[in-house]
Amino acid sequence: MNEYILGIESSCDDTSAAVLQGTCVLSNIIASQKVHEKYGGVVPELASRAHQQNIIPVIDTALKDANIDKKQLSAIAFTRGPGLLGSLLVGTSFAKAFAQTLNIPMVEIDHMNAHILVHFATDATHTEVPDFPFLCLTVSGGHTQIVVVKDYFDMEVIGKTIDDAAGEAFDKTAKILGLPYPGGPVIDKLAKIGDPNAFSFAKPNIPGLDYSFSGLKTSILYTVRDNLKLNPNFIEENKENLCASVQKTIIDILMNKLVKASKQTGIKTVAIAGGVSANSGLHDAMLALGEKYHWKVFIPRLSYSTDNAAMVAVAGYFKFLRGEFASQDLTPYARQSLREG
Ligand code: KG4
Ligand code: ZN
Repeated sequence: MNEYILGIESSCDDTSAAVLQGTCVLSNIIASQKVHEKYGGVVPELASRAHQQNIIPVIDTALKDANIDKKQLSAIAFTRGPGLLGSLLVGTSFAKAFAQTLNIPMVEIDHMNAHILVHFATDATHTEVPDFPFLCLTVSGGHTQIVVVKDYFDMEVIGKTIDDAAGEAFDKTAKILGLPYPGGPVIDKLAKIGDPNAFSFAKPNIPGLDYSFSGLKTSILYTVRDNLKLNPNFIEENKENLCASVQKTIIDILMNKLVKASKQTGIKTVAIAGGVSANSGLHDAMLALGEKYHWKVFIPRLSYSTDNAAMVAVAGYFKFLRGEFASQDLTPYARQSLREG
């Protein structure tokens, strides 16, 4: 348990580095890129440039905060994909060069796998981890999946979105309402003081465990458009109620299939992961359903919900123990790699 693992995450617009000793998080540094805000979304070209600027200071700080020297590292874990190729190339290339220089192995990590495995990251106050098998609702800016987690690297996707991801539903709603990017945290905040039953929006009717969010986006768009014709101040006067109602609808859609998945599989240990798992309304819904259906619920701490390197390092630690090392000639991948059932 004494191995020090450095994790590097650069798949989208956060440059992050973390140092773990075994599964224990010693540092987790995240540099978010403000440059995208004025464009209302991530600009890939600017993201990779910002990663290039941030990566060395972020890694330096992570090592200093962990109070270790780079020579004490046993391995380097990095996100290989999925994500933006230009962004992934920065982390991957840095990991290769650093591992070569230090003469230590490197471990490649799948970003979505890492979001789930963050539930095994421990620290002084947090030691409880889920037992296998458990269900994980993984909800981020690019993905929405229900995953059966059978083991650290044996995961099966049993439900997924057929169009937009849950995070996209938040971000696109924010855009319609003229709110800044990323929309999730802003909607979460405004929703707290709004009425969740003020407006009702269309919910999808998709069979099985799959999701769809594109109809909701259209429904919001039409509600706003029709009301703006009657009242030009409609958005301003109803911002909080609109946010609360949209958030409730997204959560209802997410929870409906998660309950179905738990009933179908008989699995009662249920976790959430990914950027949208930071949502306070989703936390409340998970805790309420946990009570109702006697689930054991796992909600990641806030800094472990959105993109972070602690999740990459903990996944890296488990791969390190298995001796699964990456070769110097690998290249990143942009698209999803988790097995889909
Ligand atoms: O996992 P993540 O940081 O990056 C990806 O891998 O995509 O997820 C980012 C997504 C964005 O869509 C953002 O709006 C959403 O997570 N998000 C939230 C909250 N915080 C971040 N959505 C709802 N409520 C939040 N508090
Ligand atoms: Zn992510």
